Amino acid sequence: MLFSSARTFPSFTSKVSFLSRCASYTTLSNCELPYIAIHKPVMIQEVLTHLAPTAGGIYSDLTFGDGGYTKAILDSCDCQVVAIDQDPTAYEKALQMASMSSYKGRLFPILGRFGDIHRLVKTQLSWSLPCFDGMVMDIGVSSGQVETASRGFSYKLDGPLDMRMFSRGRDADTTNISPNERALLRKSISAYEIVNFFSREQIANIIYQYGGDRLSRKIAAAIVDARQLEPIETTGSLASIIQKACPQPRWKRGDDDMLRNSAARTFQAFRIYINNEVNKNNEPLFPVPREKKKKKKNL
Ligand SMILES: C[S@@+](CC[C@H](N)C(=O)[O-])C[C@H]1O[C@@H](n2cnc3c(N)ncnc32)[C@H](O)[C@@H]1O
Repeated sequence: MLFSSARTFPSFTSKVSFLSRCASYTTLSNCELPYIAIHKPVMIQEVLTHLAPTAGGIYSDLTFGDGGYTKAILDSCDCQVVAIDQDPTAYEKALQMASMSSYKGRLFPILGRFGDIHRLVKTQLSWSLPCFDGMVMDIGVSSGQVETASRGFSYKLDGPLDMRMFSRGRDADTTNISPNERALLRKSISAYEIVNFFSREQIANIIYQYGGDRLSRKIAAAIVDARQLEPIETTGSLASIIQKACPQPRWKRGDDDMLRNSAARTFQAFRIYINNEVNKNNEPLFPVPREKKKKKKNL
């Protein structure tokens, strides 16, 4: 999703373009960056065309990830970017990018949820009134998150169940993490808690609501039965419980796992629920009251 407007927060009436999610599962080796960018952004040209960054402009990348769009915006002209991500590993990458000589004083990383952008810009950057010339959002999970087994997102890689974008993994040491990172983890629920402690009805509802799986009750029953024997600890165990309960049909409907693999749909459902991905409070579109926006275009 991409917004562009003249130094104001966007509204639904300003230019809004929807960009399809750009996950790719190939490694993007970029020797210019001080880290390995696993996520390959595939809509760089579209982002630059619609955002049309100009020198002196201030833009926001609300989902930094591996920084593909931030880098493209910064490279396009002498502008500034505020880069937000709730994933502490993405934030660390943003800090590394910010320390590169070509981006010094031009990139401002923030750790947090984009729905809190107003508060975050004030508290973490000490800017009085945030005001952007354009924003870009690339919502969803990043390739780096999915492809790191210890983050517990993947039904294809075995790791401790987690799926929280704002966690470094369920086994990660949290002793020395920053207060901002600790605040994101506070009161959070991981996939481990869902599969081991939620009721059968709760699990079925999540799978149906966010995975659209008509076999949600069967899958939930299989999960609850399995956990009577021992706790379900890993992504591998969960995937095999689901696949045993609902075997993948022999006939194929293309290569799309979301169509033919019930583990894919259940994992997606848990991920969306855990990260509160469908939530009005996550909405950065209305940080300024509509009335105020009508009266004063350039905030
Ligand atoms: C698809 S990736 C973005 C990839 C990025 N465009 C790139 O080129 O590498 C989505 C990112 O958004 C982050 N994210 C998802 N929901 C978020 C939220 N509510 N607030 C902040 N970051 C979020 C995830 O942690 C993930 O790193």
